[in-house]
Amino acid sequence: MLVEDFLEPKILIVSGKGGVGKTTVAAALALVAARQGRKVCVAEVDRKGTLAKLLGGKELTYEPSQLLPGIWGMNIIPDRALEEYLQVQYHMRRFSKIFTSTHFVDYITTAGPGLKDILVLGKVWYLEQGRQASGSEGGFDTIILDAPAAGHMLTFLSAPSGLSDAVRVGPIRRQAKWLVEMLRDPKRSRVHLVTLPEEMPVSETLETAAALEGELKIDAGPVFANALYSELFNGPEQVELVRMRAERDHTPLLDEAEKVGLRLDDDDIESLVGYAHFLEARRTIQATHLKQLKKGIDEPVVELPFLFSAGLELPDIETLADVIEQRVEKL
Ligand SMILES: Nc1ncnc2c1ncn2[C@@H]1O[C@H](COP(=O)(O)OP(=O)(O)OP(=O)(O)O)[C@@H](O)[C@H]1O
Ligand SMILES: [Mg+2]
Repeated sequence: MLVEDFLEPKILIVSGKGGVGKTTVAAALALVAARQGRKVCVAEVDRKGTLAKLLGGKELTYEPSQLLPGIWGMNIIPDRALEEYLQVQYHMRRFSKIFTSTHFVDYITTAGPGLKDILVLGKVWYLEQGRQASGSEGGFDTIILDAPAAGHMLTFLSAPSGLSDAVRVGPIRRQAKWLVEMLRDPKRSRVHLVTLPEEMPVSETLETAAALEGELKIDAGPVFANALYSELFNGPEQVELVRMRAERDHTPLLDEAEKVGLRLDDDDIESLVGYAHFLEARRTIQATHLKQLKKGIDEPVVELPFLFSAGLELPDIETLADVIEQRVEKL
C-alpha cells in the first residue's frame, strides 16, 4: 500500500493500554504524514505528556503550535473545548468564563458522563472541518489523536453514540450524530491500537479490536506491536552460548573481545552472557504473545523494535517512522 493511501483518513486515533507506547507511535505517525508533505496536527488529551518532547518542541497548549516542519502539536483540554463550543454555538464569549470555570465543567460532566469525551471529539471534528473559533492554525491534512488508555477508550469512542441515543431532538442530538458519523466513516477516521507483546496488553487489545469492529463499528487499522526485541543470535550461536554458560568457558568471547581491543575479564563476560540469556528469554516470551496477537486479530500487525536508548528522542522517532513506512508499503 502506498503511504499516501494509508493516510487517506484525516483522523488517526492512537489508543492502547497505559504505557504501551501510544504517544511514541502517535509521534512516529506524525513524522510519516509530514514526510508525505501533509500538514499534521498531533494532539494529546488533557495532559502534559511526553509528546512535545519526542518531537523536539516545547510544552503543548490548546492552541496548536508548530513543533517541526509540517507538524503542529496541541493539548485538547475539555474546559477549553467547552469554551470554544459555547462561543461558536451560542456566541457566549462574554459569559463563557462563568460556564467554563472548572466547577461548571466538573458539574456538567458529572451530570452527563462522557461529556468530556464528547468535547474532545467535538474539537477533533472542528479540526477536521478546518473550523476554529480562535487561533491561527487551521486546515490540517492529518489529525493524530493520542487517545486515552484503552479501558477508557471504549467509553471514549462510544460517548457520541450514547449521547445521540439519549438525546432525542435538538442541536445536541444532531451534533452527536455528526461525531458518530465522523468516527464510523473509514474514509474519515481510523483507530490504531498499540500493544506490548505481553499477556495483559495483548488480551486487552484483542477485546478492544473486537469491540471496535462489533458494537462501535469503527475502522481499526494495523495494530502496532511495540518494543520488540530483535533476534540476537542464530541457532549455532545459541547452542554455543548455552555451552559457554554451562561450562563457564569464556575463552572464545575473551579472544573475540581482545581482537577488537576490549580488555574484559571472566566476570565481565559472565555478566554479558547472562544479559544475552535474559534478552533471549524475553524475546521468546514476546514471540509467544505476538503469535497470540496475530492469531486473534484480523488487522495486520506492525512490529516496532525496542530501541535501546536512554529516553526516546527525535532520532528514535525517525527510526520508528522509517519502520512504519517500510511496513505500510508491504501492506
Ligand atoms: N519502541 C520502544 N523502544 C524503547 N522504549 C520505548 C519504545 N516505545 C516506547 N518506549 C518507552 O516506553 C515508555 C512509554 O511510552 P509512551 O509514553 O509512548 O507510552 P504511552 O502509551 O503513551 O503511555 P501513557 O499511557 O502513560 O500515555 C516511554 O518511556 C517510552 O520512551
Ligand atoms: Mg502517552
